[in-house]
Amino acid sequence: MSRPAKRVAVMISGRGSNMGALVEAAKAPGFPGTIALVLSNKPDAGGLEAAREEGIEAVAIDQKAYASRAEHEEAVAEAIEAAGCEIVCLAGYMRLLTPAFVQRFKGRMINIHPSLLPLFPGLDTHQRALDAGMRVHGCTVHFVTEEMDEGPIIAQAVIPVRPGDNAQNLATRLLGAEHHLYPHALRLVLDGRARMEGERAVIDMEEADGAAMLVSPQAS
Ligand code: GRF
Repeated sequence: MSRPAKRVAVMISGRGSNMGALVEAAKAPGFPGTIALVLSNKPDAGGLEAAREEGIEAVAIDQKAYASRAEHEEAVAEAIEAAGCEIVCLAGYMRLLTPAFVQRFKGRMINIHPSLLPLFPGLDTHQRALDAGMRVHGCTVHFVTEEMDEGPIIAQAVIPVRPGDNAQNLATRLLGAEHHLYPHALRLVLDGRARMEGERAVIDMEEADGAAMLVSPQAS
């Protein structure tokens, strides 16, 4: 007997292409989750409209409307809980989270970052990978902990760096890999096949190969 799909909230700040990939993946029969809520801290995030077109509840909780980060986060957390969401996916959510918010969703909140962590946390990851002379680049899905981009790693995907790549086309190619990796990692978490134990991520042995993806999306 199949278990009921877990409700997932996706937090965005911009175009939301990773959110879109999660929404598409969740349409597959038997996917163990449903994207029940899309939240943005920015009212003009393009992904909000895209989510609504899919019939998903999509709300902006404008950070500017709150006196403090903590009050804004309280409103965000209440919206997630009111929608009955157990799992939170950060997908281009561009606001630092307080330790209190991270604790509230510990082991249930994941993020995608456009580098092979622990290399290149923070911004400008594509240019920094090029400047470092990397021959591969990649993306990482990890559990969110209090230190930005440092949480336990669930899954990673790798793409080659090609001669003549610049930050823009590398970013575009990597985005294709992100759209493969994030739904895969979310599925592992929803199924309990990847989980946080103490401060580490534990992944079932039979999933280990799938969590280390080699993706070479077509150059676009
Ligand atoms: C992605 O590159 C993601 O890895 C990073 O922010 C970007 C969001 O892009 N965290 P999108 O809004 O999902 O298109």
